[in-house]
Order: sequence, then C-alpha cells, then structure tokens
Amino acid sequence: MLRLGILGLGTVGSGVVKILEKNAENIKNKVGTEVKIKKILVNNLEKERDIEINRDLLTNKVEDIIDNPEIDIVVELIGGEQPAYDYIIRSIENGKSIVTANKLVIAKYGKRIFRKADENNVQVCYEGSVAGGLPIIRPLQNSLAANRIEKIYGILNGTTNYILTDMSKNQKDFDESLKNAQKLGFAEADPSSDIDGHDAAYKITILSSLAFERFVDVRDVYVEGIREIKSADLEIAHEMGYVIKLLAIAKNGLDGVDIRVHPAFVPEDHPISMINGTYNCVYLHGDAVGQVMSTARGAGQMPTGSAVTADIIQVAKDINHDQREVQRMESFLESNVTDIDE
Ligand code: HSE
Repeated sequence: MLRLGILGLGTVGSGVVKILEKNAENIKNKVGTEVKIKKILVNNLEKERDIEINRDLLTNKVEDIIDNPEIDIVVELIGGEQPAYDYIIRSIENGKSIVTANKLVIAKYGKRIFRKADENNVQVCYEGSVAGGLPIIRPLQNSLAANRIEKIYGILNGTTNYILTDMSKNQKDFDESLKNAQKLGFAEADPSSDIDGHDAAYKITILSSLAFERFVDVRDVYVEGIREIKSADLEIAHEMGYVIKLLAIAKNGLDGVDIRVHPAFVPEDHPISMINGTYNCVYLHGDAVGQVMSTARGAGQMPTGSAVTADIIQVAKDINHDQREVQRMESFLESNVTDIDE
C-alpha cells in the first residue's frame, strides 16, 4: 500500500479526494497496490465541506504530513509561494516524492526543487500546474521529446478565456463576466493574477523551460492582461474577422527565446479562435512532428483533479515498482548467497 499526505482541501484538493475514492479500484489495478490517503492538511478542522470525508484524516499540523515516515507521496495543493515552497523542500529532504499543481513555485523555483529531488532520489510531478486537465507536461517530457520545439501558442488561463468568451457572445461588460467566473469557482482567490496575465505567464514559463530545455525566468516574460478590453473591442475584432484571445506565446529563435502574454487578434478560421469558455489549448510546432494542438478544460475541480491524480498514479506506480525490485533482490540474496566461510 502507498500512502498520501495532501496539503490543502480546497477546490482541487476536494477534486483529487473524489477521484481517488470514485476510481479506487481502477487506480489500484494501474498502480499494482492500493493508494490510500493518510492525512490531509486543512486550516480549519471544524469547517463544513462539500465532500464526505473521514474527519480523522484531517490535521492542521503540517508536520503530521511532511515529517511523517508513514507517508510516501506529498500532494501540495495549497498554492502560492510560501509556505508551499518550504513544505515541498522539507518533504523532499524527508525522502517523499511530490505531486503539485503549484505553477508559481514551479515557475520560480523549479530548478532548485528538481535539483533537490535528484539529490534525494525522489520525483516531482506537476502536470496540474499548467492548463488544468490538458495533458502537456508529460507529452513534452516524453512523446514529443524527439523534437526541437520552435514555438508554442497557448490559451493557458480559463478565467480570462471564459471572460472574453462571455463578453463576446453575450455582450457583457468585463466586470459582470469576471463576477460570473468567480461564482463558478475557477478564478484565483486574487483574480488579478488571472486577468493581468501573471497566471498565464507562470504557465508559459514552465512550458518554455521544458520545451526549450533551458531555465526561463518568469521576470523576463512580457505580460499584459485583459483588464482594458471593452465589449466594443470584441465587436470591432469580429467585424474584421478576428477574435481577441489572451495568448501566451513562446518562440525559440536562433538569437534566443521570446516569451510573452498579451491579448491578440486571432483569425476566426484559426483553430485557436474556437477555444471558448474555460477551455485551454496548446498549439505548438516541433521540427519532426509539425503542428500539434490539444485542448481541454483548463480550470476547475475535476479537470485539475484529473491531472493531479494522474501524477499520483505515475509516482505511486514507480515507487511500487522500485519497492518490488528491492524485495525481489532481497529474497534472491537470501536464497542464493551463501556465506563464503561456510
Ligand atoms: N485560475 C486559473 C485559470 C486556474 O483560470 O486558468 C488554473 O490554474
């Protein structure tokens, strides 16, 4: 059996708990052993929650998870810079693998975190940090690894795509559409990170670092959000045959990388223009594969929960495989190695 400690039981944490419970049998078959939640870190032990949860699993002491020798994998879902970064580092030092959806921490401190993980022989997985349910981190690490990626265009923020779609299709103004997005629960606690483009900047930083195989500093990304866009701008764009999308763009040229996030005119017949609502997309060009485009819901409890749980399955599978190898080797040694002096 493998045991999880989950830091945070907000929107995504609750999604992960639901998926782990609903698909427990299926997950057990994939991993080769049961995956159990051992502890969940919450701020308030008494709070009413919208999921059924065994209250004995809840703790408000982080050391019950990150210093607990019975926990194999720490799932960090509290978000933000601190204390999330410190918790990740301490968990790694304690020999735990990490699954996280924290784009800020991976974009800013990925290099340090991955080095620490290598030193401690553990894994760090972060599929949930970019574009919710859209598989892109693992494809860049695996299926597209043979390519030199030349450019990436992405709609990487569900809140702003929802707002722009709502403003354009329902002739609403920015504030009203933002309120709807917040009500539906996919805007960040502080929505300025979404609407001013910083959320998308963290995500394109992560993708660029992976795709271009070099550390990209988020402070080098040009960022402009959608706060100033009016319904009239969307109407004029439409009359000219365009839609306005908040695009994250990364280009890997001979003279360096160029990474930006800003509203852009996209021709109405381009596939990116058809990505509406909370859907995200990534459209990239690799020198061998050519153009690749994928799309999925980029925000919300279950899409991001899906990405995080997939990482949990992958890490659990690897740990289970390693543990079995060790057991196999031990039993081989016990039965085959005789004392040389006998
Ligand atoms: N606030 C983010 C978005 C959630 O709207 O895309 C996922 O990172």
